[in-house]
Amino acid sequence: MIDNRPIGFFDSGVGGTSIWKEVNKLLPNENSIYLADSKYAPYGIRSKDEIVSLSIKNTEFLLNKNCKLIVVACNTATTNAIDVLRTTYSNIPFIGIEPAIKPAAASSKRNLIGVLATKGTISSDLFSKSVKQYSDTKIIEQIGFGLVELIESNKIHSPEMTALLHLYLDPMIRAGIDYLVLGCSHYPYLIPQMKQILPPEIKIIDSGSAVARQTDIVLMQTSGYSEPHITEHLFYTNGNCSVLRNLIGMEYKIIEQDF
Ligand code: DGL
Repeated sequence: MIDNRPIGFFDSGVGGTSIWKEVNKLLPNENSIYLADSKYAPYGIRSKDEIVSLSIKNTEFLLNKNCKLIVVACNTATTNAIDVLRTTYSNIPFIGIEPAIKPAAASSKRNLIGVLATKGTISSDLFSKSVKQYSDTKIIEQIGFGLVELIESNKIHSPEMTALLHLYLDPMIRAGIDYLVLGCSHYPYLIPQMKQILPPEIKIIDSGSAVARQTDIVLMQTSGYSEPHITEHLFYTNGNCSVLRNLIGMEYKIIEQDF
């Protein structure tokens, strides 16, 4: 089956491009439309109702662009809104992203892992349910207050970022974790700095490649793939386009628009 319509992505901002990159690497023939809702970032400190209505707004935008599948490239939107999205738009497949507790818990030799995520993700029912499934593993939950804001303001490499990362990671190191789960799609952009803080025996896990594999499976089972052709990738932002540009490079088209 051939379907050349684009895959839609949305995130509270630029972080979901870490997921977009994984999907694009696995499925290079697919067209895409990425929505960076930076104007309303961070989602992580908003109420569930607000996160649901922002997710509906983004979904409507992507459906108007004729997307064949939507990747909710945001843990906070997935854990708070994906059930509503799937019920409201039952004729379109949604792929969500959740903290990868399962592979970390399965591989942890110390049965002690850390999860760094937003307040919205950690306080969600979906997250609590996942944590309960791994009762043999002790999970240290840490809210990454301020990290998304710094990434959204082009301050990935800044003294403020280094200070916050130490504040959140040092206690986990002292507690003896052997896996750190990144439960926010913005955080993979911090991996180089995290590696300077974490001892080498602590492994970092994020969910990007798992989302890409799931997108592949769902496309195969539903609409089908694009035929090989010159692909088009459009990035829409309602925030500062230079932040997005720094993360995706020069070759893609960015459209600044209010939505
Ligand atoms: N990228 C979002 C996530 O994965 C960040 C949420 C936020 O804006 O706080 O959770």
